[in-house]
Amino acid sequence: MTIEVKQGAQTATNADFISVAAGRRSVRVYDSEWTISKEELQDILKTAIMAPSSSNLQPWRFLVLQNAELKRKLLPIAYNQQQVVEASAVIAVFADPLAYEKAETIYGSAVEAGYMQESVKADFVKRTVQTYGSLGEDRLKSIALVDGGLVSMQLMLAAKAKGYDTVPMGGYDADKFKEAFDVPQRWAPVMLIALGKAAKEGHPTTRLPLEEVAFWNSIEA
Ligand SMILES: Cc1cc2nc3c(=O)[nH]c(=O)nc-3n(C[C@H](O)[C@H](O)[C@H](O)COP(=O)(O)O)c2cc1C
Repeated sequence: MTIEVKQGAQTATNADFISVAAGRRSVRVYDSEWTISKEELQDILKTAIMAPSSSNLQPWRFLVLQNAELKRKLLPIAYNQQQVVEASAVIAVFADPLAYEKAETIYGSAVEAGYMQESVKADFVKRTVQTYGSLGEDRLKSIALVDGGLVSMQLMLAAKAKGYDTVPMGGYDADKFKEAFDVPQRWAPVMLIALGKAAKEGHPTTRLPLEEVAFWNSIEA
C-alpha cells in the first residue's frame, strides 16, 4: 500500500512505515538460539530515542538483559513468561521523574550542535528547572511515563523495521525487578520489551472500530 503524504510543497511516500506498523504483532515464541549483537541493539535503541519527550528531557532509561543467566533470573519475576528466556534480549524500560536534572547537559548539547544560542539555553535551563522543580511527585511521574510509553513504541517499531519481533510486557513484579537488578529506586517502571527472532508468529488481534474511539469536534457517548 502506498500512501502519499503532502508535506507542504514536498510529497513523500510512507509505505514502509505503514507495513512496519501494521505488521507488528506481539510475539511470544522466539528462536532461543538467535543472538543479536550489541551494535544492532544499539541501532534499535538509537532510533527509539529519537522519540519526542516533554521539554526534550528524555527521561527514558533502559536496562538491556542479554545474558542467559540474567534472563533466567528474570523468569520468575516475569511470572514465568517463557519469552523472557527465549528472546535474544529483554529491554527493561524505566522513566526518571527527575530527568530535568539533566537540563543543562541536554540544552548544552543543542548549543554545541548549533541549534540554540547560549543565552537562550541559559533561560531554557532556568525555566525548566523552576517549572519541573515545582511539580509534585505524581505529576513528574506521569509526565515521565508518557515519554516512556512513546520511546517503547518507537523501540518496537524500530525492531520490526530491522526484521525482529517484540512483545511489550507489563506482567512482571516491578519492585522485585528493581531489587534484583539494582535499579535506582526513583526510576518508574514503564514495561519490559522482549525482543528477538520469532519462532512462531504472533496471533492476529482486532481493534475497536474507529468510530468507538475517535470523536470529531465533540464527544458523544
Ligand atoms: C503495557 C502493555 C503490557 C503488556 N503486557 C503483556 C504481558 O505481560 N505479557 C504478554 O504476553 N503480552 C503483554 N502485552 C501485549 C498485549 O497483550 C498485546 O499488545 C495486545 O493483545 C495487542 O496485540 P498485538 O501487540 O499483537 O497488536 C502487553 C501490552 C502492553 C501495551
